[in-house]
Amino acid sequence: MNNERERWTSRSSFIIASIGAAIGLGNVWRFPYICYENGGGAFLIPYFVALLTAGIPLMIVEFGLGRRMQAGAPTAFAKVRKGTEWVGWLALMVVMLIFLYYPVIMAWCVDYVTYAFNLGWGTDAKTFFESEFLQLSGGPGFLAGIRWPIVIGLAVVWAAIYLCLFKGIKALSKIVFYTVIIPWVILVIMVIRGLTLPGALEGLKFYLTPNFSALVNPRVWLAAYGQIFFTLSLAMGTMIVYSSYLKRRSDIANNSFIVSLANCGTSFFAGFAVFSILGYLAQAMGVGVPEVTKSGFGLAFITYPTAIRLLPFIPAFFGVIFFILLLTLGIDSAFSQIEPFVAGFTDKWKFNKNWVLPIVCIVGFLIGIIFTTRGGFYWLDIVDYFANTFGLTLVGLLECIVIGYIYKAHKMREYVNEVSEFQIGKWWDVCITIITPIILGISFVLSVVTLIQKGYGDYPAWATLIGVCIAIGIIVLSFVLMSMRAKKLAESEPESSESA
Ligand code: ALA
Repeated sequence: MNNERERWTSRSSFIIASIGAAIGLGNVWRFPYICYENGGGAFLIPYFVALLTAGIPLMIVEFGLGRRMQAGAPTAFAKVRKGTEWVGWLALMVVMLIFLYYPVIMAWCVDYVTYAFNLGWGTDAKTFFESEFLQLSGGPGFLAGIRWPIVIGLAVVWAAIYLCLFKGIKALSKIVFYTVIIPWVILVIMVIRGLTLPGALEGLKFYLTPNFSALVNPRVWLAAYGQIFFTLSLAMGTMIVYSSYLKRRSDIANNSFIVSLANCGTSFFAGFAVFSILGYLAQAMGVGVPEVTKSGFGLAFITYPTAIRLLPFIPAFFGVIFFILLLTLGIDSAFSQIEPFVAGFTDKWKFNKNWVLPIVCIVGFLIGIIFTTRGGFYWLDIVDYFANTFGLTLVGLLECIVIGYIYKAHKMREYVNEVSEFQIGKWWDVCITIITPIILGISFVLSVVTLIQKGYGDYPAWATLIGVCIAIGIIVLSFVLMSMRAKKLAESEPESSESA
């Protein structure tokens, strides 16, 4: 078997693929609603602080680790120290939870593209989404049967993921150009459309006016750090495996800044499309922008369709391109969640990717069917909460500890500086060893305390308990996977791989 590591065809392919992984539903769906729920303009300050103090430093960690160790997350951590391999597996277990439900949201988009042709959600997009499309059951205890249109959408999405990945990294190098450029073109069209609507200015005022009093609220800061992790696809193993396909002596520092800033710049830009439409909707409804919607989660499937229907000019066209926008945004994030998972197994056990990939896609599709049931929406919400609030935060915290204290921050910084186009200073060590772990640690503890005190959402206690069991289960599974003997672990030490 050929064990030669796959390579990107060029540096720009790597950068575009990483930008594509980062830019996803999170930028157009999650960022605007988190921003909206946390005071609009007030949110932008903690968001950009989080980008600088945690996002970019951790991006450098992940790019540096993958590039240095030439392996996906578990093997890369094993090369730092054998006992830390489970941190890599934990990242893959968390990303597994995410890739079980993320394609389901994309499946909704597939269905909504077809509805958009005749604005099928009618005048009451909320009732349509909840009662006709999802046909929500009474709660997580009632799965109440499968919604076949969503299953069909899910099959389409998984088939697309497989087709993008099966030819390997060289083919991916080409695909990502389309999956990054197409959504950008659509986004520009949506922003222009939004800004030329009456009322848009009010929406933008809400988006851009900082409300400094919100800055004393710790919830706003936690939301900002959580969003930065999700949006940059950090702590998922993605950036580690992507950089492991880089050629020798490829830049790390500059690439980290480019990818992080491009992603957050896109979120900021997407905010103009969403908030201008919210301003328009507020004017049409005769209410203020903060009162337009109570459902952040439903922004893309309730609020936006409502506004699209009211558009004065070819609304169906804008409906169709909006959901195509979400699909093209999501597809490269979705396959960037599968690649590290598959690489975790092929790196450690030298399994053949040609059969690991289809198995992962088929099993992912089959398990995902749970989220297509009438009660599936509740489970999607619960898994999303546990994976993001606890999973990503914990993995990020552990990554800081392993690289900052076990591998040593200064050693990683010296390595990064050796190969990068510009030098990163000691500020980076401070971020990795002190600032980021403290913030992530506080965030994690606060989330645990809130969970113990209040549970999650309005769900019954047993549903939260299942979430806790899943969380404990994936930690145990990470240790089990670590303890299984590798076929050929750490076949080349990092030092020797450098000199080759
Ligand atoms: N970073 C990906 C997104 O924003 C997961 O959707």
